Amino acid sequence: MAIRGKTILITGASSGLGRAMALSLSHGDNNLVVTARREGLLRELAAEVEAHGSRCTVAVADAVDPAACQQVIDAGLAAYGRIDVAILNAGGGTPTNMAHTDSAAVLRIMRVNFDTLVNFLCPMIDHMRDVGGTIAWTGSPAGFFGLPRSGPYSAAKAAGRVMLDSARVELAGSPVKLVALYPGFTYTPGLDPNDVPIKALIIQPERAAREMLGAIERGRSHHMFPKRIRVLIALGRLMPEWLRRRFLRVASGG
Ligand SMILES: NC(=O)c1ccc[n+]([C@@H]2O[C@H](COP(=O)([O-])OP(=O)(O)OC[C@H]3O[C@@H](n4cnc5c(N)ncnc54)[C@H](OP(=O)(O)O)[C@@H]3O)[C@@H](O)[C@H]2O)c1
Repeated sequence: MAIRGKTILITGASSGLGRAMALSLSHGDNNLVVTARREGLLRELAAEVEAHGSRCTVAVADAVDPAACQQVIDAGLAAYGRIDVAILNAGGGTPTNMAHTDSAAVLRIMRVNFDTLVNFLCPMIDHMRDVGGTIAWTGSPAGFFGLPRSGPYSAAKAAGRVMLDSARVELAGSPVKLVALYPGFTYTPGLDPNDVPIKALIIQPERAAREMLGAIERGRSHHMFPKRIRVLIALGRLMPEWLRRRFLRVASGG
């Protein structure tokens, strides 16, 4: 693990990709600030991190609440004095069919994936503007076009991607680096394998964590993986819209 001796904030750390990244970073003599809503899981994670020789602060928060997010950042700064890397990873989606849903369900998914980003992104930019640092975000290949049964999730991930693109231009020349990560289907509690049309595309969270932390170390602006997903998304973007629509309809069993 090349990220060593740093202070790293991870949102959505109680499970899946966030937890896998925290465990990988725990071998690097780092200070971790881990946050999510489920305190028991965060405490178990903290014990494992500390057993590997790093320090770990648990900060329980619902990331749709801006004041709670600020408290998480304050707890990290009080414990370690600075935050070098913020990995904004909280999110997830419940399958939603726009033909049969309501506005509350749509907005809930938007909040879980967009508000949870914004509520950490703005204060972290504020913190890092002078002292420097890296802000990474877990987006999704689903944010490149509207996938069936994923309208609100695709929309929230597209919004995050485009907002980071703007911020990257605005922060050029500053010491803040923005890294957008687009993991393909990863075997976490957040993924229902029945929703994956080709099971061979699913990767393990440890592999995903390696890819994500590697991209953060190298300061890449964008990283989509594995390669098979990168190729599929590139092909999808090249297709005319009518053909893509037909393809997605068949792939989703419609
Ligand atoms: N797995 C995949 O195939 C895949 C692919 C592309 C992108 N992603 C993205 O990867 C990220 C992590 O997902 P995962 O697959 O690791 O799923 P996961 O195991 O369900 O983890 C989701 C994490 O987000 C946290 N979270 C959700 N809502 C929250 C809220 N309101 N406040 C605070 N924390 C919240 C959860 O913690 P609590 O419930 O304890 O609060 C949990 O730690 C998500 O952004 C997801 O969209 C996943």
